[in-house]
Amino acid sequence: MFPTKTYVERRKYLSEQIGSGLILFIGNDESPMNYADNAYRFRQDSTFLYYFGVDQPGLSAIIDIDAKKEIVFGDELTVEDIVWMGAQTTIAEKAALAGVNDAKPLAELDDYVKGFIAKGKPVYFIPQYRTDNSLKLEKYLGIKHSRINDYSSLKLTKVIAAQRTSKSAEEIAEIEKSSTVSYEMYAAAMQTIRPGIYEREVAGLIEGIALSKGNGLSFPTIFSVRGEILHNHSYDNLMEAGQMVVCDSGVESDLHYASDITRTMPVSGKFTDRQKEIYNIVVNTNQEGIKAVKPGIQFKQVHLSAAKNIASGLKELGLLKGNIDEIVAAGAHALFFPHGLGHMLGLDVHDLENFGEKNTGYDNTVERSEQFGLDALRFGKTLVTGQVMTIEPGIYFIPQLINKWEKEQKLTQFVNYEKVKTYIGFGGIRVEDNVLVTKSGSRLLGKPIPKTVEEIETAMAH
Ligand code: GLY
Ligand code: MN
Ligand code: MN
Repeated sequence: MFPTKTYVERRKYLSEQIGSGLILFIGNDESPMNYADNAYRFRQDSTFLYYFGVDQPGLSAIIDIDAKKEIVFGDELTVEDIVWMGAQTTIAEKAALAGVNDAKPLAELDDYVKGFIAKGKPVYFIPQYRTDNSLKLEKYLGIKHSRINDYSSLKLTKVIAAQRTSKSAEEIAEIEKSSTVSYEMYAAAMQTIRPGIYEREVAGLIEGIALSKGNGLSFPTIFSVRGEILHNHSYDNLMEAGQMVVCDSGVESDLHYASDITRTMPVSGKFTDRQKEIYNIVVNTNQEGIKAVKPGIQFKQVHLSAAKNIASGLKELGLLKGNIDEIVAAGAHALFFPHGLGHMLGLDVHDLENFGEKNTGYDNTVERSEQFGLDALRFGKTLVTGQVMTIEPGIYFIPQLINKWEKEQKLTQFVNYEKVKTYIGFGGIRVEDNVLVTKSGSRLLGKPIPKTVEEIETAMAH
């Protein structure tokens, strides 16, 4: 955990912003894989971690602003539990480390909330993403679990989102730790990738490093020679010379802060000339995107500049034609770059997305576009100091999308379909880094991972 003061100050700020009422925090429970005692790796809710730091299942907590009370609710282990799980630091002891000196059995939460509601005072909670947690709220609040999110507090959600958006030095240090493990994962991958081995051999190697040097993966690794499939989670392919492999992976630190890095590597260790041409457009867009990051700039504009960069590169190669501004305004670049330039990073790999991107990525100054490609931009708002973003441009040749657009004769004034079709089978390229918004600009987090053609080919020489 962070020092006690961190949690005390976070809760104090939140209470001051909300002013009055009861804030209810629902922690996560174990999640069964195939039967109750065989669970997925436990992950505490990030907002619960942020304010209370206690990293175990079966907890909830309240801040009663009016009564100036903070309580963590949960059941201490019985001797019968200890037989299976061993003796552990108690909930009361862990809560005290977060500056909460009141711990009560879980059964008492129901009465506490009902008593509060009976006084006619407001209870605030954030949107829920797990049905079991919505069912807990149904019990405490009497609202049908399927409608719980209709009653979550927008005010609370926005205050927490703003507080969590700007990272403190100790949070940045955690993301740096994760990024440093990412460096080791990519160094090992670059030394291991070769023709004739299966994707799973490298995916397994780097997952092992994430666990042995960090706190495991921050999301399931994408490791595939089918890089044009944006979120491909199978590792079944035998890697062949001439192919490229996209590796998109991340690590959690001990305090659950994530890294999220992507590199695209030639299986043989050397890019072909054709691959280099596309690769250099993506790397250049990544580098320009990082340089463009600074407080006060709207991230939607950084995304649109990246789209123009990609469009210019593809125009030079004859895949696109016409005026660059018009290409991007029409969304023709999205045939190749159909996702957003990046997203927030923090306790969640897509930080705060459980609050709804409408509440965190957009506001009354910038609306989410409905245009294909731009609609996948998860964050469009103005950047603030202390925010951490990913910068992850990509170029993909997705056969089904190319065929569909051509059949529809879509944007033929901008797309040279005859040339584009010669790239079917090329795959895809993505290059992703993690960037801190500093007072004056941006700073790359973690030890720099080989990225240019020369750097990657040197790292892969074996
Ligand atoms: N790992 C998915 C992403 O980069 O957003
Ligand atoms: Mn990623
Ligand atoms: Mn990402």
